[in-house]
Amino acid sequence: MELADLHLTLDRRGDFTARVYRGLLAAIQDGRLRPGDRLPPSRALAQSLAVSRGTVLTAYERLTAEGFLRGRTGDGTFVTGSPAPVRRRPPRSAIRPRAEWAAEPRRTNGERAAPSYDFRVGMPDATLFPYDVWRRLVSRELRLGSGDLATYGDPAGRLDLRSAIARYVGIARSVRADEDDVLVTSGAQQALDLVGRVMLRPGDIVAVEDPGYPLARALFASLGARVVGVPVDESGLVVDALPTRARLVYVTPSHQFPLGMAMSLARRRELLAWAGHRDAAVIEDDYDSEFRFSQRPLEPLHSLDTTGRVIYVGTFSKTLLPSLRLGFLVAPPTLRSALQAARQLSDGHSPTASQAALARFMAEGQLARHIRKASRIYGERHALVVDAIERMDDLELVPSTAGLHVCARLRSGDLGSVRALVTTLPRQGVVVDDVGQFCVGSAQAGFVFGYGGIPTGRIAEGMSRFRQALMRA
Ligand SMILES: Cc1ncc(COP(=O)(O)O)c(C=O)c1O
Repeated sequence: MELADLHLTLDRRGDFTARVYRGLLAAIQDGRLRPGDRLPPSRALAQSLAVSRGTVLTAYERLTAEGFLRGRTGDGTFVTGSPAPVRRRPPRSAIRPRAEWAAEPRRTNGERAAPSYDFRVGMPDATLFPYDVWRRLVSRELRLGSGDLATYGDPAGRLDLRSAIARYVGIARSVRADEDDVLVTSGAQQALDLVGRVMLRPGDIVAVEDPGYPLARALFASLGARVVGVPVDESGLVVDALPTRARLVYVTPSHQFPLGMAMSLARRRELLAWAGHRDAAVIEDDYDSEFRFSQRPLEPLHSLDTTGRVIYVGTFSKTLLPSLRLGFLVAPPTLRSALQAARQLSDGHSPTASQAALARFMAEGQLARHIRKASRIYGERHALVVDAIERMDDLELVPSTAGLHVCARLRSGDLGSVRALVTTLPRQGVVVDDVGQFCVGSAQAGFVFGYGGIPTGRIAEGMSRFRQALMRA
């Protein structure tokens, strides 16, 4: 690394040469300076330390003689040695987070090496993304003169993107919204965070599905809420089991996470009636239902709602890429300014250039085209996985017609046997998820098969390896 700006801490012992020498040696020994790093020219370092150039040269020479540095004529002075991972031991600290933050972050898919037969849940197929189009659109924005790059943007998001999203949800999901109802977020997760922050007081009850999305449950708990898991049946969240004083209910009605069924229309109506009666708000997380394989989708809660209680949350993590960190929410006008203020205090707004690129991407019809193409491919994969599950007598398929994963219950067997199978399957190159990891109070023995991350051609072999392991277990 080129070190234009090296900050050295000098102690007070000895002459300046000895201080500079010790400062550099300490930086090399504790890993701040690494093998291969080029030190600043002696004149520049002398100037920044307010010492003479001769002082720095002498320190460099001493470290060179001792083998810590090496001079290359005409090129500079470098730290020697072979690069090795440096483990700095942090100081012992008495500073602690609040108890809500005691847990480790969940490992994300990207931190694990991709297995050969990758059925991990939650991943879209990164090979389908139209990289050339996206690069063109982003580079167009990252040019001098292409907008106010030196200023902060609107916390609600760029107007062109909000309009594009309002149109998109209106057409694709029959969600009635205009640009003022939309707030652009850094993924669905931030939408949940903003809603939680502006609505919840510590101790407030939030009802979530059980099994359900762990990052939603953990988020509301981190805000000091009492999070209560509510069972789901084949029609979705069991409204009769809702805690009477819940202030907020978080649901995934289009494609229940992780089981995969849709919430029935009757149940949707029941939930809205319940919310009206109890003066509660509902978050509708519509995270992956753009990929639909049959049937007309049911009306979103948002469009059935006549009393402004539903906050609709969407994301581009599945339709595009999760690493873009772009999502949105559609909120009733009563929450609008609070949500915008919370976004401003949290992180200002989403990166302006990505927002502008996405607005144009949508306006050019690229999003719709990409979803059409991806749906066709995911539809084939869905059919292959469903077919393989239906051939396994030990499994009972949970019917689903959308999204990027399907779920199957183990007909006879307990949570322990599912866990054991899921942990040994990687030896066969297969990774699937265990429904149990998404349960709090409920205990459901089953498997979740994601098909976003596995090429279509590998599904048959992956499912066959799964089947053999299941039969042996
Ligand atoms: C239920 C649910 N909601 C939302 C998301 C997407 O989150 P984000 O938009 O923060 O990437 C996921 C991703 O796996 C999910 O499973």
